[in-house]
Amino acid sequence: MKLTYTGKTKDVFALDNGNYLLKFKDDVTGENGVFDPGANTVGLVMEGAGQAGLRLTKFFFEKLKEAGIPTHYIDANIDEATMTVKPATVFGKGLEVICRYRAVGSFLRRYGLYAQEGQPLDGFVEVTLKDDDRLDPPISKDALDMLGILSADEYETLKQLTKQISDVIKTELSLKGIELYDIKLEFGRVDKDKQIVLIDEISGGNMRAYKDGNYIEPLDLERMMVAGN
Ligand SMILES: Nc1ncnc2c1ncn2[C@@H]1O[C@H](COP(=O)(O)OP(=O)(O)O)[C@@H](O)[C@H]1O
Ligand SMILES: [Mg+2]
Repeated sequence: MKLTYTGKTKDVFALDNGNYLLKFKDDVTGENGVFDPGANTVGLVMEGAGQAGLRLTKFFFEKLKEAGIPTHYIDANIDEATMTVKPATVFGKGLEVICRYRAVGSFLRRYGLYAQEGQPLDGFVEVTLKDDDRLDPPISKDALDMLGILSADEYETLKQLTKQISDVIKTELSLKGIELYDIKLEFGRVDKDKQIVLIDEISGGNMRAYKDGNYIEPLDLERMMVAGN
């Protein structure tokens, strides 16, 4: 097993059989000790955050599998806080795809002149570059194509998958009376045929979820969604 990448919240290991092992850490993104799913820095350490993130990730990836949506997921070991996945190549140096159901976070910071806080957005999809130094800038379909990161056709695939996946997550949350405001996904190409699939994780740290108008912290979200698992 070889460490190939040290991320903000996970370490990535290459296994001898060619698969990857993601180790979920207790590091959480945020600033000055305050959690923020959109932040680009590790702001705090929360005991049990790694295992909780993996539990929720496992729960959602298995729901996606039932729905016939392709992902990198193979299996998970909760005790070890590890997940085995298919190795993927990412687009450029990595993209984040955001699906928004309500105007909050960076959307509101950027478009606050026109958008009201909490305004419904009907599954609006936008793409940002994973570029911590440049604060993950949003990028258009044309720019992605022009810069050779993603073709116009691939963009449409990505957008469609994002809506489909986000709707599955939104529905699962709504079964517990929780409303999804926004979610951040990552995609990559896997296998010989370079199929575009969902990669990375789906945990409280990747989304804003609310109950009765109150934001739900990642650890609470995990307890509410997969209690007893
Ligand atoms: N199946 C996969 N194949 C290759 N890379 C992956 C896969 N799943 C996730 N990753 C990458 O592994 C890293 C996970 O670590 P993380 O701490 O989330 O990193 P980051 O600091 O970039 O957010 C991310 O860069 C993510 O893009
Ligand atoms: Mg990450």
